[in-house]
Amino acid sequence: MIEFRKVTKVFGSGQTSVRAVNDVSFRCPRGAFWALMGPSGSGKSTILHLIAGLTPPTEGSIIVEGADVSKMTSAEAAALRRRRIGYVLQTFNLMPFLTVAENVGMPLVLDGVKQAEVNGRVKEALTMVSMSHRASHHPTHLSGGEQQRVAIARALVIRPAIALADEPTGNLDRAAGRVLMDLLQDVNERTGVTVLLVTHDPVFAAYATRVLRIVDGTLRQDTELTHEVEERDLSLAR
Ligand SMILES: Nc1ncnc2c1ncn2[C@@H]1O[C@H](COP(=O)(O)OP(=O)(O)O)[C@@H](O)[C@H]1O
Ligand SMILES: [Mg+2]
Repeated sequence: MIEFRKVTKVFGSGQTSVRAVNDVSFRCPRGAFWALMGPSGSGKSTILHLIAGLTPPTEGSIIVEGADVSKMTSAEAAALRRRRIGYVLQTFNLMPFLTVAENVGMPLVLDGVKQAEVNGRVKEALTMVSMSHRASHHPTHLSGGEQQRVAIARALVIRPAIALADEPTGNLDRAAGRVLMDLLQDVNERTGVTVLLVTHDPVFAAYATRVLRIVDGTLRQDTELTHEVEERDLSLAR
């Protein structure tokens, strides 16, 4: 579960200070698939950074996996990120001189996991994103969509409780974006990982069960999606 209790984040001080997140509260249950939408600069990435303990809140508390991130030491927050949180960004950030399998295994290697276990887990993660056949290739030989699937495998290899995806389709065309969203949905359903997705695209936000709309750091709207249309389509097909 991810809980924000009256969270405010102010960058800087005095005249030039920026209130990036303003008194935001929500409770996201384990296994949920939520989307964050809102104009550029509205505080979406800052919310993800706060969850991952990359930056402390100015006010309020943030509970992730039963622990208060705002009270963690930087070492504790780093351990939370290394073991419990998978992060996917718009830029894939794969290491060009490593193979796909080496890239995916990196978080485990850095955490001191034995190579035999790393190999098994990498295989499992690459299978989940349908990229096993590319394990020994280098990322530069892959399309953008394939690189992003590898980045998702790298995020999943730690078997995270939470996946934070910050505009993961931002560098992809619509078709590759759809493949990626289908994949995220599938992983969410199969593994029960909680997914928080930042997106500008309403089509991709519709994959979520709830959409939070953030404007100027404030939670403006909280919409539950019932997916009525799809259900109606299914009943017609039956
Ligand atoms: N490290 C930082 N230092 C100062 N200002 C920041 C920092 N990070 C973000 N901001 C500011 O906080 C606001 C929200 O940024 P961000 O969370 O990146 O928005 P979004 O992801 O919705 O585009 C913006 O005005 C941005 O300039
Ligand atoms: Mg952002």
